[in-house]
Amino acid sequence: MIDFLVSTQLTKGRMDEFMQKTAGSRKLFERAQGSLPSGSTRAPYYYSPYPLYIKKGEGPYVWDVDGNKYLDFANNMGPLVLGHRNPRVQKAIEAQTDAFWCGGPTELEVELAEKIKKAFPFGDHLLFTPSGTEATMKLIRAARASTGKDRIMLSTGAYHGSHDIVTTSPGIPKSYLSLVTRYSYNDEESFVKAFRKDKAELGAVVMEGLLGHAGSAPPTRSFIKTVREETEKAGVPFIIDEVVTGFRVARGGISEIMGVKPDGVTLGKIIGGGFPAGAFLATDRLMKEYQYTKADFPHIGRARLQQSGTFNAHAVTMAAGLATLEQLTPDAYKHLAWAGGEASRILDKLATERRIPHAMTGIGSIFFMHFSKDPINNAETAESSDERKGRILDALMLPYGVSMPAFHSAFASLPMGKPEMALFEKAVASGLDDMKKIGEL
Ligand SMILES: Cc1ncc(COP(=O)(O)O)c(C=O)c1O
Repeated sequence: MIDFLVSTQLTKGRMDEFMQKTAGSRKLFERAQGSLPSGSTRAPYYYSPYPLYIKKGEGPYVWDVDGNKYLDFANNMGPLVLGHRNPRVQKAIEAQTDAFWCGGPTELEVELAEKIKKAFPFGDHLLFTPSGTEATMKLIRAARASTGKDRIMLSTGAYHGSHDIVTTSPGIPKSYLSLVTRYSYNDEESFVKAFRKDKAELGAVVMEGLLGHAGSAPPTRSFIKTVREETEKAGVPFIIDEVVTGFRVARGGISEIMGVKPDGVTLGKIIGGGFPAGAFLATDRLMKEYQYTKADFPHIGRARLQQSGTFNAHAVTMAAGLATLEQLTPDAYKHLAWAGGEASRILDKLATERRIPHAMTGIGSIFFMHFSKDPINNAETAESSDERKGRILDALMLPYGVSMPAFHSAFASLPMGKPEMALFEKAVASGLDDMKKIGEL
């Protein structure tokens, strides 16, 4: 892909110029090859011709090490809902680092826990982790412990973090994979059939709030309702993974929007205000597994499941999370939905005007354009999304000052306004026109 873009005659001039302007990033990328596999720590930032190494961020913009400015639609894959270096978050962090870094329970964790409970009122208790990965791992463990059943149900294409229970790749024991039943997201028939077959063995049904793999495709009301009804009838814990959607699509995530009460949710991203964070919240049927019995408390080791983690509820993260949630008012959500809707509308309009087959996915401030002639709502239909074209457009927008996550849903932030949308429109139009010129459309 890199060679392709750089050597294409029609983009040669523009890409050459861009590569000259970003020589510092190229050098760092070359240097990174010596210590990081392929020079990369994170796939969505690994794009052609090389990742931009970022030096600072402010509001909706970031600056790379060479001083070039970009409108940022990655926002660290979701957490930076207020944009970069939000002044109130910055102040809260500074006050916290002056006071205490970590190493004991703080009032902040109690306050943040209360705020989270208020947003997800079906939950009885919650626990903090340093990542969404650990949140899904620990909540699935609680569901398995409370039901005494090992099998879990996940959708095809699901992403719930990088732990072994939810991942398929070499290195994962086959015995783990054999404990997973798959269903197709947004396909009631597939779900009901697979669920009814295995329900007696199931410890949990887990579902992403939006299917990330399909460009953050939302569930239909009818699908999520069916999942809730079937699991409730059978007494199987239903977990919604709201790591991306919690406090982004609404305070109470997709559960709130869909009016569904799962047995548990996992959270991350926004609740840490830009710092490493995760949490899982559930009814006491599940959370009691982490509870010390009254008789044994405070002696450790008597809860059925151990809740350990050096950086759980880190004080700086809690302070940043609280300062973030405080700013997510109803008006903030209105503006976020406007920004995401506007960006999505721009992509849709410009692709339509150029007769480019495409499909839009996302909700609120999250959006994605697939190069596909068919609608997309799950992993199976997402097969038709042309990844190569998507990645080329992402790369071709960089010289026009817009940074998109590489072939990943984009995230609008609160400080994005009309000037940012105008810049985005210009970059999309120019990127699509460049694609036409090089015969990619
Ligand atoms: C739906 C979902 N669950 C879990 C995770 C894992 O979270 P983390 O990257 O904080 O480990 C992610 C990360 O993007 C996610 O999208």
